Amino acid sequence: MIRPIIEFRDVVKTFGEQRVLDSVNLTFFEGKTTVIAGASGQGKSVTLKLILGLMQADSGKIRVAGKDITRMRAKELNRVRADFGVLFQSSALLDSLSVFDNVALPLEERTALNKEQINQRVMSTLVQFGLEGHEHKYPAQLSGGMKKRVGLARALQLRPKIMLFDEPTTGLDPEKSMEIYQLFLRAQQEYGYTSIIVSHDIPKIFNLADQVVILHKGKFFSFDSPDDIQASEVPEIINFVEKTMGRVYKSMGLE
Ligand SMILES: Nc1ncnc2c1ncn2[C@@H]1O[C@H](COP(=O)(O)OP(=O)(O)O)[C@@H](O)[C@H]1O
Ligand SMILES: [Mg+2]
Repeated sequence: MIRPIIEFRDVVKTFGEQRVLDSVNLTFFEGKTTVIAGASGQGKSVTLKLILGLMQADSGKIRVAGKDITRMRAKELNRVRADFGVLFQSSALLDSLSVFDNVALPLEERTALNKEQINQRVMSTLVQFGLEGHEHKYPAQLSGGMKKRVGLARALQLRPKIMLFDEPTTGLDPEKSMEIYQLFLRAQQEYGYTSIIVSHDIPKIFNLADQVVILHKGKFFSFDSPDDIQASEVPEIINFVEKTMGRVYKSMGLE
């Protein structure tokens, strides 16, 4: 059965005069991958911050696993946050720690696992993500793609139910970006988390998505497949398709 895991109901978010989210409704489904696309400055990162409770909505409800987080107190919100893993643009690795120690950190800080258990769990993830033999290196010694893989390995240590990615391939060339997305897909299949990916990598990323949401002028437009996007008759979406997908996407679709 497909169950909702995150629900936006009539959510409004403004900054001064600017209405970033204009009474939006959207459902994210458990175990599925949703890609959020849209031009720069449309509110994609704000959407993720609202989900994490790092920003407050002006009005409306945001339910995570059935509970409205917009009305939660700090303590309860922290419990909800424990179900999330995040990977943002910078990977946010600690420069003074080795690859191993970066990945081990959440386990050391947040679990009662002993050294041996931590070692086992960290090394198995490093092997799985092709980072074996690099565990003693420091972030400055890694390529961009490796940093992203270390970031993902670390984010998964506490077995999050939901992973949020904010433009996770920033700074990578197209081939490396594709590798990272393939890794996300494999990791998601193995761990079964719900995945929400904000991405500019259109149309590549669409192959991984169960649902694609385009954020435009304060509204969410939700689609079940890339074909549905191309078939849209909403002028703004047609415009978006032409600008971002264009011939590349159309020729891919014909293959
Ligand atoms: N803390 C903030 N204070 C004021 N304005 C903000 C803040 N965060 C975001 N905004 C504005 O909200 C809009 C959406 O931002 P953002 O979600 O970061 O866009 P993007 O879709 O590129 O991720 C932008 O116009 C941005 O300037
Ligand atoms: Mg952003």
